[in-house]
Amino acid sequence: MLNKLKKQVPVPIPVCKAELLKGRTALITGASGGIGLAIASSFLASGASVIVSGRNRERVDGAVRQLKSKYDGDGVKVVGALLDISQASSLEESFARISEVAPHGKIDILVNNAAIMKGGSFDKVCVEDFKEVINTNLTGTFFLSRAAAKYMVANKIKGNILNVLSSSSNRPAISAYTLSKWALKGLTRGLGKSLIEYGIVVNAIAPGPTATKMILPDESAGISCCASPSGRLAVSEEIANMAVVLVSGMGRMCVGEVVYMTGGCGTLTYDDMDYKLDL
Ligand SMILES: NC(=O)c1ccc[n+]([C@@H]2O[C@H](COP(=O)([O-])OP(=O)(O)OC[C@H]3O[C@@H](n4cnc5c(N)ncnc54)[C@H](OP(=O)(O)O)[C@@H]3O)[C@@H](O)[C@H]2O)c1
Repeated sequence: MLNKLKKQVPVPIPVCKAELLKGRTALITGASGGIGLAIASSFLASGASVIVSGRNRERVDGAVRQLKSKYDGDGVKVVGALLDISQASSLEESFARISEVAPHGKIDILVNNAAIMKGGSFDKVCVEDFKEVINTNLTGTFFLSRAAAKYMVANKIKGNILNVLSSSSNRPAISAYTLSKWALKGLTRGLGKSLIEYGIVVNAIAPGPTATKMILPDESAGISCCASPSGRLAVSEEIANMAVVLVSGMGRMCVGEVVYMTGGCGTLTYDDMDYKLDL
């Protein structure tokens, strides 16, 4: 039935301009490309300054240049920072180092966006790849969130932590990637409840299939997706606009929540795993 879909849901105006985040500063992990870069762009368009972080100097510098050329003169600042979230034991120190160069002298939003997907499923994945995925997606996010929470409490900052999950965080899991996203859903609920008494709002956004190099290495393939009721993949800017709402005052009564953006694929019904084990 889905294959009969004639039209795609149109792609909207990419980034909404607003003042929802005026005067705030966000640290975004994995912001050198994909959804992280789009979040940085939408935060800047909403009045926030951003710290674009990533593990590769060249890619971070490229993203900073791109964002500066677009938003320079809008009263917002863009700085770059090297941050490899797989180095869990040094994340507290790294967070402290980055906070010293933060625009407006503070970080009041952390977006845990960085993640990797590799190694395949239950029947194929090797121990090294499994550990690398869990170490990056889960352990890194856990300890960076703790560093941010301690910093916000110590500096009396009523801030936000936004985790980027995946719609697969509700679907049957046979890969390290999907398991890491299930775990992050639990962490979002747990931190949402535990940190709200300090005025720190924790939520998550869970994209469905989105047009980035993670699932679409060849951009020329286009964004059509007949398996989706919307007829296409999401684009990063759509995820990014929702991120603005969730870390703004408009999202304050969302606490420990996960906002799914699946284009109608659902979270339990869309079988993106069409995968037979080879044991
Ligand atoms: N695309 C989708 O269909 C989809 C669907 C659901 C959820 N998501 C989630 O959305 C988020 C962003 O993914 P994306 O689609 O934008 O993928 P992407 O284009 O591959 O971007 C991932 C980003 O994470 C960074 N990264 C990877 N490992 C890192 C590490 N150890 N330390 C710091 N940064 C690291 C990458 O940096 P490098 O430049 O160094 O590689 C890259 O900037 C992820 O959490 C992903 O799970 C994506």
